[in-house]
Formats: sequence, C-alpha cells, structure tokens
Amino acid sequence: MSGKPTASAHPAQCPVMTTTAGAPIADNQNSLTAGPRGPVLMQDYQLLEKLAHQNRERIPERVVHAKGWGAFGTLTVTHDISRFTRAKLFGEVGKSTPMLARFSTVAGELGAADAERDVRGFALKFYTEEGNWDLVGNNTPVFFIRDPLKFPDFIRTQKRHPVSHLRSATAAWDFWSLSPESLHQVTILMSDRGIPVSPRFMNGYGSHTYSFWNRDGERFWVKFHFKTQQGHRTMSNADAAQVIGQTRESYQEDLFGSIQAGEYPRWTMFVQVMPELDADKTPYNPFDLTKVWPHQDYPLIEVGVLELNRNADNYFEEIEQAAFSPSNIVPGIGFSPDRVLQARIFAYADAHRYRLGTHYEALPVNAPKCPVHHYHKDGSMKFFRTPTGHADAYYEPNSFGGATQDPSVAEPPLRLQGDAARYNHRDGNDDYSQPGALFRILGAEQQQRLGRNIAASMKGVPAFIIDRQLAHFDKADPDYGRVVRTALSELDIEFTA
Ligand code: NDP
Ligand code: HEM
Repeated sequence: MSGKPTASAHPAQCPVMTTTAGAPIADNQNSLTAGPRGPVLMQDYQLLEKLAHQNRERIPERVVHAKGWGAFGTLTVTHDISRFTRAKLFGEVGKSTPMLARFSTVAGELGAADAERDVRGFALKFYTEEGNWDLVGNNTPVFFIRDPLKFPDFIRTQKRHPVSHLRSATAAWDFWSLSPESLHQVTILMSDRGIPVSPRFMNGYGSHTYSFWNRDGERFWVKFHFKTQQGHRTMSNADAAQVIGQTRESYQEDLFGSIQAGEYPRWTMFVQVMPELDADKTPYNPFDLTKVWPHQDYPLIEVGVLELNRNADNYFEEIEQAAFSPSNIVPGIGFSPDRVLQARIFAYADAHRYRLGTHYEALPVNAPKCPVHHYHKDGSMKFFRTPTGHADAYYEPNSFGGATQDPSVAEPPLRLQGDAARYNHRDGNDDYSQPGALFRILGAEQQQRLGRNIAASMKGVPAFIIDRQLAHFDKADPDYGRVVRTALSELDIEFTA
C-alpha cells in the first residue's frame, strides 16, 4: 500500500552505512515524517546531521593562489651536491624522496578558469627523513615587489574592485607604474610565458635566494630552478579565450589526465650557488627578489629529476588541505636576508592555522613521514598523539626521557650588520637592466606579441597611468617602449607620452 515504510535488503558485498557515531542506518532515502504526507520530525537526527555537515563542507579558500592542481611524485638525485649542503635528501646520487606538487594561479578564486594570464604557483613539499622541506615558488624567477610591506597592496590590485566587484586594469597598471621594481615580473607575465598550456609545460623557480650549509659549516647562497622536460608550450590571449570558452578546467584535465594515462611529467632540477662572501661583491643585491643571478655569473648546476606520477585519491583531502610554507626547511637548507622571504616565513603558517586549523600539520597530506616529537599541546581537533618519549614528559626540559634538542643540526652563525631604519629600497636600485636583457632575449616576434599583450591589458586605463608606465618600458629598452606604443595605437588606446 502506498505510503507504507519500505525497506530493501542490504546487499552482502557493501558495508553497512552508519552515522558518524557508528550506528547503522536503516533508511537513507526517506526522512522520518508524521504520516506519509506529514512534516519531518525533529528527532530525525540523521537528516539533521546530513544537513549540518553539508553546511560545513567549505573551508576558506587560499587568500591568494586559490585555484590549483596537484599531484604526488618523487625527486631523484642524479648529481652530487653534498659539498654545498648536508641536507639528507641530497645525500647521495640515486636517492629518491617522495613529494607533492601544487600548481596554481594567483588572483583567481577557487572556481576561476585555468587558462588565464597570471603568474603560476609552483609549490613543492618534499617528505624528507629530517622533516618536510617546502619550496613554495612560482613559474617565474622574480616577483613584483621587493619589500613585503607592499604585498597586501599589490594583491589588492589583482583582486576585485570594492565597488564594481570586477578586476581592475587601472588598479594593476597604477600600482605597477608607481612600482618600477615590478617591471621585470610584468615583462615575464605579459610575454608568451604568461599563459602556459598547462603546468606540465612551464618551469618552476624557488625565486628567492635561500641558503645551503654543509657538514663543515660553510654557507652558500642558492637559487632553485626546475626546467620542464616537456618543453615550453604557451597560449596566446586568443587561444586562451577559445580554451576557456570550451572548458574552464583545462589544467586539471591535462595534469590529471596525463598522469592517469601514465605520461608522467618531469622537470630537471638545478641550483645556482654563490659562496657566502660573494654577496658583498655582486653589482646587484643578490637577495633582491626582483632580480635573477645571470647564468653566466652563476651557472646552473644539475641536481636531479622531479617526476609526478600519482594523482591524489581525494582532491579536497590531499590538494585543498595541503599546506605549503617557506618556513618548512630541513638541516642543510636555510633562509637568506631576502626580506620578502622573511615575511613569508610568518604568513603561510598563520594562513594555515586560519584556513585549516591549529593542527593542520598533522593532516595526512601535511604530516611528515619521519618521527615527530614536539611539545605543542591540545587545541581544537587534537586527534593525534605527539609522543615525546614518556607520558610525564609534557614540558621541556624534563627528567623523564622526553625529546630534547640536537645541537648537531644547528645552522652556522650568520653575520648581519646595519642600523635599524626604514631604508628606501628604490634608492639607486637598477630596475631596468634585467627587464631590458629579457626583452632583447625574446626576439622580434615575441617582442611584438609582448607589446600587444600589454596593450590589450591596458584597455580602459587612464592615459596618465599609461604614460607613466611607458617611461619604464623606454628605460628598459627604447624598442620596448616602441613596440608597446605601436600596439596601443593599433587598439586606439590613448596615451600622450
Ligand atoms: P640567459 O641568456 O642565460 O638565459 C635566458 C633565460 O631566459 C633562460 O633561463 C630562459 O628560460 C629564459 N626565458 C626565455 N624566454 C622567457 C620568457 N618569456 N620569460 C621568462 N624567461 C624566459 O639569461 P641570463 O641569466 O643572462 O639573464 C637574462 C634574462 O633572462 C634575465 O634578465 C631574466 O629576465 C631571464 N631569465 C634569467 C634567469 C636566471 O636565473 N638567470 C631565469 C629565467 C629567466 P629557458 O632556459 O627555460 O628557456
Ligand atoms: C600562497 C602570502 C609572496 C608563492 C600564499 C598564501 C599566502 C601567501 C597567505 C596562502 C597560503 C595558504 O592558505 O595555504 C604571501 C606573502 C608574500 C607572498 C605575504 C610576500 C610578502 C609569494 C612569492 C611567491 C609565492 C614571492 C613565489 C616565489 C605562493 C604559492 C602559493 C602561495 C605558490 C600557493 C601555495 C599552495 O599551492 O598551497 N601566499 N605570499 N608567494 N604563495 Fe605567497
């Protein structure tokens, strides 16, 4: 008879569905109601639990780099660099370390289209035997700013306008034209490499200067490079518009699909190494994030091969909940006086505590694959044990055999000097030579495309801002200014300079 409670037999091959408290569920199709046509009863706690959980499925998206694609793989050492670093992951040729990569765009939200012109994040987590080493880089060797105080301002110009809720070309070019140190990164962003076909076809860079230190206590400054073995493949604005018209998920499809098909993307890892005291001699500040170290001065030294060969079993658990932080280093790898790096050492773990919760490092994707013995206690979602060696050893120092410090992993002391003040980082800084060098490397055809990409991105920008930016292009190379002016004229975009 219609309206009578129904039940179908439980298939023997499936587990019994339960509540989160483990009680078996008899019916997951029909709410508990007062009669066949009546309202739901408040005591249907299974319905309440289901709705309440759905309300909590979203966590804050990353404040930047929200849209991303990731996979697991390995770093295999092919060349010995143990003379520079005592880091165990580089300890011997042939050594393989499991790792996770997450690529991302910077400005777009979680649902943004993949093929947008933007810098790409290139974040790597190496699960080493001495803790996790995170190298949280980009697909560019430099960045838009050199003082971290400007990061929130810069990001504001990339996100939506508070009134129109639209992205603002005026804000972007206003900020860039008032910040000449951005010219190098802007040139890369507007060049062909500004829209890679997918993460497989782009390089990765640590971008900052980091440090290595070896068993003898010697320090070297180091830059990390990952060169794609798939070759560079890029999209024009028109190609990208067509791709986005067909799919907003072109990167996920390509990266996930190629790994699923057994085509594992690879990158060759290199380092540039500078002896510690050379930093006083280079004509440019080697800790300035807007500058590269010319290859001629500091050649690339081959290290190994990065291969991505396993997709995540669950995107949310392993990619969305992944927490990469430049503060995660291991013995043999250190920071540098790069002040943007120093700000990032604070910003990421702080973001993770907000985005994922206090104990985010214990989530399986973030948990080190080596023993962990810290004394941080309690807090929400404390779902794991932190063995310190003995139940009575819950503070340090203690007399009960709890975990203790190991002076053998102390970094060699770093010489610092100077009077504390707010020094003008733009004073006497050459913001033009390296962008000019890059412009000349591009060759005539790519230079024209660069000019057109810049002009296309300047639609709607007031002429006085365009004029201010043209002066920067001119200083990098008069031809740079010329190709942009030609492209602006082709699009009837007003400028006066
Ligand atoms: P080199 O002449 O030795 O090498 C040129 C570099 O430019 C290569 O690394 C190449 O990457 C890269 N490149 C080519 N096209 C682009 C593009 N559209 N966007 C970004 N990079 C590109 O260079 P130098 O070391 O003498 O430096 C000259 C300029 O090259 C720099 O001012 C910088 O802008 C750029 N560059 C330098 C890097 C460095 O670490 N020295 C790293 C990346 C760029 P690939 O080998 O993959 O083709
Ligand atoms: C993500 C801050 C500069 C690369 C993030 C996040 C924050 C942040 C808060 C979100 C973290 C999260 O929720 O997991 C900053 C600050 C910077 C800075 C304050 C400068 C002062 C840079 C630079 C690079 C970079 C210079 C590259 C060289 C990335 C990448 C991600 C990211 C790749 C995404 C990581 C992932 O895939 O989870 N940044 N950032 N950032 N940032 Fe930065």
